[in-house]
Amino acid sequence: MNALARILRRRIERQGPITVADYMAAALGHPKYGYYMGKDPFGVRGDFITAPEISQMFGELIGLWCVICWRQMGRPKVVHLVELGPGRGTLMGDALRAARAAPDFIDALRLHLVETSPALRARQGEMLGDYAPRWHARLDSVPDGRMILIANEFFDALPVQQFERTGEGWVERLVRFDAVAGEFRFTLATGAAEGEAPLPAPLLNAPSQTVPIGAIGEVSPEGRALAAEIGGRLARAGGVALIVDYGHGRSTPGETLQAVKGHKFHDVLADPGGADLTAHVDFEALAAAGAGAGAATFGPVSQGAFLGSLGIDARTETLLESASPAQVKDIRSALKRLVASSEMGVLFKALCLAHPGQPAPPGFETPPGFETPQ
Ligand SMILES: C[S@@+](CC[C@H](N)C(=O)[O-])C[C@H]1O[C@@H](n2cnc3c(N)ncnc32)[C@H](O)[C@@H]1O
Repeated sequence: MNALARILRRRIERQGPITVADYMAAALGHPKYGYYMGKDPFGVRGDFITAPEISQMFGELIGLWCVICWRQMGRPKVVHLVELGPGRGTLMGDALRAARAAPDFIDALRLHLVETSPALRARQGEMLGDYAPRWHARLDSVPDGRMILIANEFFDALPVQQFERTGEGWVERLVRFDAVAGEFRFTLATGAAEGEAPLPAPLLNAPSQTVPIGAIGEVSPEGRALAAEIGGRLARAGGVALIVDYGHGRSTPGETLQAVKGHKFHDVLADPGGADLTAHVDFEALAAAGAGAGAATFGPVSQGAFLGSLGIDARTETLLESASPAQVKDIRSALKRLVASSEMGVLFKALCLAHPGQPAPPGFETPPGFETPQ
C-alpha cells in the first residue's frame, strides 16, 4: 500500500466513505503524492501520450487558429493567451513557433499557464521561457481582459462524482476501505433521495427502459464550474476558448472513469497517485455551463473534422517533402492517430466558447446539426 493509499485509508476510517470525486482529486492532485505532482508522465516511457506529443502538427495548427481568432477579435493590442494544464509545454511551443508568422500577434500576447504540478511547471519553463510566461494555480488569478484560452486533455482530469440508478433513485457511489481484503472498494451512499443527484437533466429524467437500474451516471461539478467561469470571462471581456478532449457530445449514462499506467488500463482503486485517472468529458454539460454564463458556443466537432478543416493534410504534405524515409512513416502514422475515426479522430472532440459577437472560428463554420458527434 503506497503512502497516499495509507492517508486515504486513515481518512475513511475517521470520517467514513469518501466520494469518487474526492478520491480522484487526491489521487491526481494531492500536494505531495498526487499523480501529477512529482513526475513527467508523458511519452513512450511514461503512462500515456497526448495529441501534441504525437505530432508537432497539432500545436502548429492550434497556433494558427489562435492568430486567426485574434484577427477576428479586431487585433487587440493585448490579449491573454491562457493554457490550462500545458503538460510539457509542447503544444504551446509548437503553437507559438507557427504563430511567429504573425509578429504583431506575438507582440500582443501575454502568456499565462494554469498548472499545479511543480515538475511540469519546470518543463514548461524550459520550453516557453522566451515568452515570459506567468504561472497560476487556477484560472481566477489570470487578469481579466481579452483572452484566447486553450485546454487540451485538461477537463478529463477534473474529478467526477458517480451516481448509480437504484429502485429509490440516483444514489451517490462512494469509496470505502475493506479492512479484511486490505483494499479500496466502491459502495453506495445511504439515505440519498431521488432528485438530489446533480446529474444532467437527460440522465435524471431518462425512462428506466433507456437508463436501467444499475446504470452509472457521472458529473464533474468542477468541470461545469470552470466552463461557466470561462464563459463568463469571455462574455464580459471578449475572446475565445478551445476545449479539446475525449468524451461524448451528448450527456449520456456510463461508467467512464479509468486508470492508465504504463500505457495499459489499471484498476481505478488499486494505486492512488501511481496511475493516471481520467473520465470522459460531457461536452453537452460544458457547453450548457458556458452558455449559461453568457458565452456563444460552437461545436463540439470531432477532432478529425476540426484538424481537417484547419489544413492538417496540407501540413502533412509539406512535412513529407523534406522527410527521411523513417520520418515519412512516422508522419503518416501520426496523421492517422490524430484524425482516423478508429483512433483519436472521433472520440476526441473540439468545443469552442466565445464572446457572443465573435464570428465562427476556423474549424467551427459547420452549421449546427450538420455534424453531431456522439
Ligand atoms: C493529461 S495532461 C495534458 C497536458 C497537455 N495539455 C497535453 O495535451 O499534452 C493534464 C495537464 O493538466 C495539469 N493538471 C491536472 N489537473 C489540474 C488542475 N486541477 N489544475 C491545474 N492543472 C492541472 C497536469 O499537471 C497536466 O499538465
